[in-house]
Amino acid sequence: MKILMVCLGNICRSPIAEGILNHKLADKNLSLSIKVDSAGTINMHRGEHPDTRAINTAKKFGVDISKLIARQFVINDFDLFDRIYVMDTSNFRDVLSLARNDNDRNKVELLLNVANPDSNKSVPDPYYGGQEGFDKVFRMIEKACDKIVQSLEENKI
Ligand code: 4NP
Repeated sequence: MKILMVCLGNICRSPIAEGILNHKLADKNLSLSIKVDSAGTINMHRGEHPDTRAINTAKKFGVDISKLIARQFVINDFDLFDRIYVMDTSNFRDVLSLARNDNDRNKVELLLNVANPDSNKSVPDPYYGGQEGFDKVFRMIEKACDKIVQSLEENKI
């Protein structure tokens, strides 16, 4: 099972999601069977480490994302990953615009729909706010990741 987390820049939300999910999978000894990565729909931050505010928030909650490196989402990711979780409706549109068929399209889901099916809520972009926005985003993402781990344990995804 391979899971990809996607946001706009791959320096705030999706690296937080990658870090949280990996952390939780390691706790359950699932790191070998489930691989997690993240990407952004734009290439502006390619090669950069996550935003310092994202690193600080994750660190506060015991998750180290300081070594992750941003990259852009590419069409080949549809072949490499089983599930593609996007942070907001604009990421959803951007990723779907690259889908080649229904198989690609069916892999893409809004992250927050995992915990609240069909709610179509977005993880807000914390980039232009302060540190507290990152803490809020961390908690939203964490809830969804708990649900993903639970579903993986129950073989539902
Ligand atoms: P992210 O946040 O999509 O959660 O990584 C952003 C990062 C960079 C920009 C916007 C949002 N930006 O405009 O450069």
